[in-house]
Amino acid sequence: MADPRDEPGPRPGVRLTRRGLFAGGAVAAAGAVAGTAMAMTRAPETVPAASPAAVPVLGAAVEPFHGVRQAGIATPAQAHAVFAAFDLRAGADRDGLARLMRLLTDDARRLTQGRAALADTEPELAALPARLTVTFGFGPGLFKAAGLPAPVEPLPAFSIDRLQERWNGGDLLAQICADDPLTVSHALRMIVKDARSFATVRWTQRGFRRAAHTQEPTHTQRNVMGQLDGTVNPVPGDADFERAVWSGDGTTLVLRRIHTDMETWDAADTVAKEFTIGRRLSDGAPLTGSREHDEPDFERLTPAGFPVISEYAHIRRARVEDPNLRILRRVYNYDDGLAQDGVPDTGLLFASYQADVARQFVPLQRRLAEADLLNEWTTPIGSAVFHIPPGCGPGGWIGEALLA
Ligand code: HEM
Repeated sequence: MADPRDEPGPRPGVRLTRRGLFAGGAVAAAGAVAGTAMAMTRAPETVPAASPAAVPVLGAAVEPFHGVRQAGIATPAQAHAVFAAFDLRAGADRDGLARLMRLLTDDARRLTQGRAALADTEPELAALPARLTVTFGFGPGLFKAAGLPAPVEPLPAFSIDRLQERWNGGDLLAQICADDPLTVSHALRMIVKDARSFATVRWTQRGFRRAAHTQEPTHTQRNVMGQLDGTVNPVPGDADFERAVWSGDGTTLVLRRIHTDMETWDAADTVAKEFTIGRRLSDGAPLTGSREHDEPDFERLTPAGFPVISEYAHIRRARVEDPNLRILRRVYNYDDGLAQDGVPDTGLLFASYQADVARQFVPLQRRLAEADLLNEWTTPIGSAVFHIPPGCGPGGWIGEALLA
């Protein structure tokens, strides 16, 4: 079986095309980078061939639901996701919210363990949970309705934002992830049915990663732009992860819908694409290294005296030195086909989890908005922020400490 990473590296004679790269020394710098990259051609990695019979069937695989923290954050990312945001109906109050969360917790508890929800009209579809997780988040409006101070607020405006109201905000979030899209679809239906008398659907956003078992779980996934995405990320179980992601046993989710302009990205050549990120497309190695997890050398200069990794390269602008202030990126691709004008409706559901949005996400996003070569091809079109309350035990429900 061919490894998708067996892709040709930069070709000799590639042409720079992006206008952002042509200013001043960037051309010389990028040219030197191209030379470095070409000199470092390496054997592509391969995965051993597997016959279909040898691939295990994992539809029955289960992720635990009960725990002090909700699943779906430190859980290795499943292949499919839907993020569903709800608006509370007028008159929703703390008691009503408590009833709603009891109901939804019960659905999630059952469905994630492969059992039908209480009023399940297609109980057969619950039988294969395929690592289903259902994670609930509370937006600013939910706290208001409950008469509680809100620990989250909408993000400030960023210069690169072109937000569309239809993808913004939400009082309540259900993040539903599984390795099977039918499981996700069924779980969503159950949650929406049970939320109906309390809330209306504001938006749903579906995303995907590589199908389960396409690659070893240790492989970094590729996004729709073709880049290895997720190389530098806090690792569950590490002390840094604890401090960066969890605040007590809760966290926050920032969900940004980021459109990627695939047509102009297609017009860029490999050198321009790699210069933009600061990493090679073939294997995700930094332009100053030879392997994906090599530390980037931001001090390294080309013979002409320009930084090998541009001052405006995405990984340089996004670098956070203090591990306690990093964000957890658990990103999904979206591809909603072609818009009526034939343009791909494609991008990233950029899901970022952090202990503190104001200290971690906002300064980082601000830095990227100020200058990041990637901005040429990416446009945030949706933005929502949720508090993710702690998990619960067998007798409890999500949000109990806040709403009971
Ligand atoms: C469509 C939009 C985006 C794309 C295609 C994208 C792509 C990438 C790629 C390919 C990498 C390098 C590999 C890796 O470490 O994962 C990366 C790194 C990173 N990105 Fe993005 N990214 C996007 C948006 C964002 C946004 C909105 C943020 C934060 C607000 C962000 C934060 C980061 C961080 C923190 C890193 C690691 C930097 C480091 O090396 O220390 N990215 N991204």
